[in-house]
Amino acid sequence: MNSQRDKNRVIIFDTTLRDGEQSPGASMNLEEKLRIAQMLEEMGVDVIEAGFPVASNGDFEAVNAVARAIKNSTVAGLARAGRADIERAADALKPAVRPRIHTFLSTSPLHMKYKLQMEPEQVHQLVIDSVTLARRFTDDVEWSPEDGSRTEHDFLCRCVESAIKAGARTINIPDTVGYAVPAEFAALIAMLFNRVPNIDQAIVSVHCHNDLGLAVANSLAAVAVGARQVECTINGLGERAGNAALEEIIMALRTRADAMPYTTGVKSEHITKASRLVSTITGFVVQPNKAIVGANAFAHESGIHQDGVLKHAQTYEIMTPESVGLNRSNIVMGKHSGRHAFRAKLKDLGFELGDNALNDAFRRFKDLADKKKHVYDEDIVALVDDEIGRANDRIRFVSLQVVCGSKGPQTAELELEIDGQALHTKASGDGPVDATFNAIKALFPHEATLRLFQVNAVTEGTDAQAEVTVRLEESGKSVNGQGADTDTLVASARAYVHALNKLLVKREKTAPAAMTA
Ligand code: KIV
Ligand code: ZN
Repeated sequence: MNSQRDKNRVIIFDTTLRDGEQSPGASMNLEEKLRIAQMLEEMGVDVIEAGFPVASNGDFEAVNAVARAIKNSTVAGLARAGRADIERAADALKPAVRPRIHTFLSTSPLHMKYKLQMEPEQVHQLVIDSVTLARRFTDDVEWSPEDGSRTEHDFLCRCVESAIKAGARTINIPDTVGYAVPAEFAALIAMLFNRVPNIDQAIVSVHCHNDLGLAVANSLAAVAVGARQVECTINGLGERAGNAALEEIIMALRTRADAMPYTTGVKSEHITKASRLVSTITGFVVQPNKAIVGANAFAHESGIHQDGVLKHAQTYEIMTPESVGLNRSNIVMGKHSGRHAFRAKLKDLGFELGDNALNDAFRRFKDLADKKKHVYDEDIVALVDDEIGRANDRIRFVSLQVVCGSKGPQTAELELEIDGQALHTKASGDGPVDATFNAIKALFPHEATLRLFQVNAVTEGTDAQAEVTVRLEESGKSVNGQGADTDTLVASARAYVHALNKLLVKREKTAPAAMTA
């Protein structure tokens, strides 16, 4: 099988929608998952792990919708080793052009004894049974020994050999708890190549967690000894400290092709947009000094560095901003720009809006251009993010007037449209944000708890738009809402209302009777 492939081509398997979504608070709704999947496909990701279909109806529907929408990338669904999991994954993946069932089972002594409470012989048999069952539904089966990096070598070799015999085409070795170090992890992968007799019949993959900050280093060390699939996520999102960051893997391979002569199908110019989309949807901000996608990753502050870069960019720049799709000094449009130019700009930025959404976005763009000296691409992206998928919202923001300052009391006068009816109230609170949120609660009473309130400036300058994320939690389920505006409080109200609308959709799906305010 391997002989038909370019031997240096590394398959990029993105698990933002599955392992990424497992981060507490990073939950995404179906429409958001579809947007991310489409963005991953456009950027050239080979495999998109869309979710864990047996986990919930929502997960099933999301995997099913992604399977329907994605045509070029393989779509994977995760399944434990049991029949119910595998059949559910197969069902969800039915519409996929290239479906993959990814089934896994713990193999480390610790996991077998305490988590599975099974003997190694039982585990080994279940590996064979689960892969055999999965192969009934698709030729493309991936098998993972969970906690693989802490599994005894003899047992790991035996399970891997049996999984391949049973029909697994990809063998993925996870460093589930982020415990491995690069030389040791590379040695583990090399050991499999040396000892598993049928290893050439499968692609060896790695899935590294970042608990010690070594996920990318471990993944690249594994590639150097023969692994040809890397599992990763945008912005390194994932359980606990996250997974290997896709953008770091891609840019390390691209920038250091001299030391690591491996190729991928990912267009690195899509990285910035992907990072931004995932951060906006999940509310997980990217730290400023994060490699590749942090706000400072291409900023040169010190005079010596600036001088060097001006004389010759490579003095301090090992990658160009353009190579990750960052185009900083792009003052794009002003208040005289017309609807045509706006639509063309949106297309350029990767947005295709329907007529109504386009009209709303254009109106808001005009308002913004009136208030703000320079309108950047980032401003337009934030504004459109704030419009997408809101057509069916029950609650709509209309206007807000806030009185704030050191003397108090802080008050908020708010108008919302709820189910088509204009409602108005005035509320006070402990600060202007509290007053604003109290006003929303007065107009639409609810019990959800505020879990996150986060403000980011979209660009530089005091006239920058604020992009606010609000996370609400109800009955153990959380949703993230976003809002953007040059007025931070308006952005906050919009974000809260967005989160509330998403909560209503969630409620509707789980308990139709609970739909009244
Ligand atoms: O970290 C892990 O072990 C996993 C497996 C399901 C591959 O996410
Ligand atoms: Zn994982």
